[in-house]
Amino acid sequence: MTKLSVNINKIATLRNARGGNTPDVLKVAVDCEAFGAEGITVHPRPDERHIRYSDVMQLRPLITTEFNIEGYPSRNFMDLVLRVKPHQVTLVPDASDAITSNAGWDTSKHFKLLSEIVEELCNAGIRTSIFVDTEFKDIENAAKLGADRVELYTEPYATMYPNNPEAAVKPFLEAANTARKNGLGVNAGHDLNLNNLAYIHTIIPFLEEVSIGHALISDALYLGLKGTIQAYKNCLK
Ligand code: PXP
Repeated sequence: MTKLSVNINKIATLRNARGGNTPDVLKVAVDCEAFGAEGITVHPRPDERHIRYSDVMQLRPLITTEFNIEGYPSRNFMDLVLRVKPHQVTLVPDASDAITSNAGWDTSKHFKLLSEIVEELCNAGIRTSIFVDTEFKDIENAAKLGADRVELYTEPYATMYPNNPEAAVKPFLEAANTARKNGLGVNAGHDLNLNNLAYIHTIIPFLEEVSIGHALISDALYLGLKGTIQAYKNCLK
């Protein structure tokens, strides 16, 4: 079964626009779980323009499904996750000023940094996932680093999907098979939506988890949060 992890950063963005506590990020997280989400994802950035470090602390005891924290492994980020001890940390390479993640790791170039980080997380009993493109070398290195999973950066799939779904998914299937052969679990995320999710899931049914934020929260404006989460889960059946 592929788990749906809802990325709630957009909820925090909306809250931060007014400075108060509407919408209530903590309540939305709990409600997402009640509506069927099998995980909650947050991506605290150094400037805290979306989720704040204090949100992450407060979310921890409330989450009853799987808590996934994504981010660049700065010292501050590592101190936070080692304190919070989520079920999974997804390491992403984005620069602090990136609007959103826009590439996977070059795991050859950053092998030393990543090996130290993965070891630290592993010693703390936290599952580690490394955000990667579909390059086999990056995936093979993730296995050598001792990571548990990779998360495939699916933006290129999402962009090509409307014109050529078969060509769009092909490198992702090959990458997922490479990950599996190397003993890694496979997550996927970025730009997945109600149009393109069912197809990638049909072709790669062994995805462990998809983490979805932007499109899901946007769809909730029309379908409501409960209806939206159910619609995404239907794509994963
Ligand atoms: N996975 C990672 C590593 C991300 O950085 C993001 C965006 O924060 C997502 C998944 C979710 O992407 P989207 O908001 O396009 O669904």
